[in-house]
Amino acid sequence: MTIIKAALLGYGTVGQGVYTALKTHRQQLKKLLGAEVEIAGVLIKDPNKKRDIDPDILITTEFEDILNIPGLQVIFEAIVGEEPGFTYLNRAIEKGIQVITANKVMFARYGKVLLQKGQKYGVSVGYEATTAGGVPIIRTLKQLLQVNKINRIQGIVNGTSNFILTEMRSRGISFDEALQLAQRNGYAEEDPTSDISGKDAFCKTMILSELAFGKQPIWSDVELEGITSITEEQVQQALQLNLRYKHVADIYQENGTIKASVKPILVGESHPLFSVDGVDNAITVEASLLGRFTLTGPGAGKLPTASAMVEDLADIFTVKKRELQPSI
Ligand SMILES: NC(=O)c1ccc[n+]([C@@H]2O[C@H](COP(=O)([O-])OP(=O)(O)OC[C@H]3O[C@@H](n4cnc5c(N)ncnc54)[C@H](OP(=O)(O)O)[C@@H]3O)[C@@H](O)[C@H]2O)c1
Repeated sequence: MTIIKAALLGYGTVGQGVYTALKTHRQQLKKLLGAEVEIAGVLIKDPNKKRDIDPDILITTEFEDILNIPGLQVIFEAIVGEEPGFTYLNRAIEKGIQVITANKVMFARYGKVLLQKGQKYGVSVGYEATTAGGVPIIRTLKQLLQVNKINRIQGIVNGTSNFILTEMRSRGISFDEALQLAQRNGYAEEDPTSDISGKDAFCKTMILSELAFGKQPIWSDVELEGITSITEEQVQQALQLNLRYKHVADIYQENGTIKASVKPILVGESHPLFSVDGVDNAITVEASLLGRFTLTGPGAGKLPTASAMVEDLADIFTVKKRELQPSI
C-alpha cells in the first residue's frame, strides 16, 4: 500500500483534531486516495507536556527534524502567529512538500506570497481552515470564481463575538457576563482580545478579499471595531425594534477599490445574518450569476477545523492521483 507521509506543526486544539480525524477517517481516505496517510512527525514547543501520541511518531521541537523526515509529502500547520509559521511553510514549499494551514494570522499577511511560491515549486497550499473553520467557504468561492464574479461578501466570521452578542440579547446580560459565559463554555480563550477586538475577523476578511477580488484593501483603511463597547441597554433597545447586533465583515469593490469593514452593525429580519446565533459562523456571498447565498456552520473547534484541513488533503492528493493515472 502506498503511504502518504504527513507531519503536524502544532498539537493543540487543531493539531489534535487533525490527528484524530486522520485516524477515524483512515478507511475513507484510503479508499479515496489509494494510499494510507501516516503521521510521521509532530512539531511542538513545550517538550514537557504529556501528549497522547503513538510512540512510533517522532515528536520534536526542531523544525529541521520534520524537514528531514525521509519522503515527507505534506505538512499540516496549526501553530500560532505570523512566525515561525511563515518561515516553516516557505521552507517546506522549497522542498516540494505540500502545505495545509489553519493559521489565519500568518496567512492574512503572507498567503499571497505562499501561494505564488507554491505555484513556482509545483506545491499546493491548502487554507480552507483559516476562514470560518469548518464552513467550506474557500472551496466554494474557488469553484464559483471559475465563471462568476464576486460582488460582495458579508459574514459573521468570529463565533466568540457572535456567541456573546447572542447571549446579551437572549438573556439580557452585560458584555462582561456574556464573555465570562463564553469562557466557561470554552468558546473564548483566557485572553479573548483577538476575538472581541475584531482582529481575528479582520484576518479572515483579508483572506476572503484576496481570494474573491485578487487583492486586499490597505489594512489601515479598513474600519475595524470589536464588540467591547456594545452595552446591554443598546442590545435591548435594538430588540424592541426587532433589530439585532451582529459583528459583520463586509467586503466589496467600488470603482476598482476594495472597501472593507469589520464592525458591529444592526440588522433587521430580512438580513441573511439576522438568525445566525451562538458560536456559528455564516457568510453571505453575492455572485454575478448565482446571486446571493449564505453558508452557515461551525466556525471553529477541534473537529470542524480538522475537517477543513483533511478536506484540503483530500483535494490535493486526489488531483495528484489523477495526474499519475495514465491517460487512455
Ligand atoms: N482553535 C480553533 O478552533 C481554530 C480554528 C481555525 C483556525 N485556528 C488556527 O489554528 C492555529 C492553531 O490553533 P489552536 O487553537 O490549535 O492553538 P493551540 O491550542 O494554542 O495550539 C498551538 C500548538 O502550536 C504549538 N506551537 C506554538 N508555537 C510554536 C512554535 N513556535 N514552534 C512549535 N510549536 C508551536 C503549541 O505547542 P505546545 O503544545 O508545546 O504548547 C501547540 O501544540 C492558530 O493559528 C489558530 O488561529 C484555530
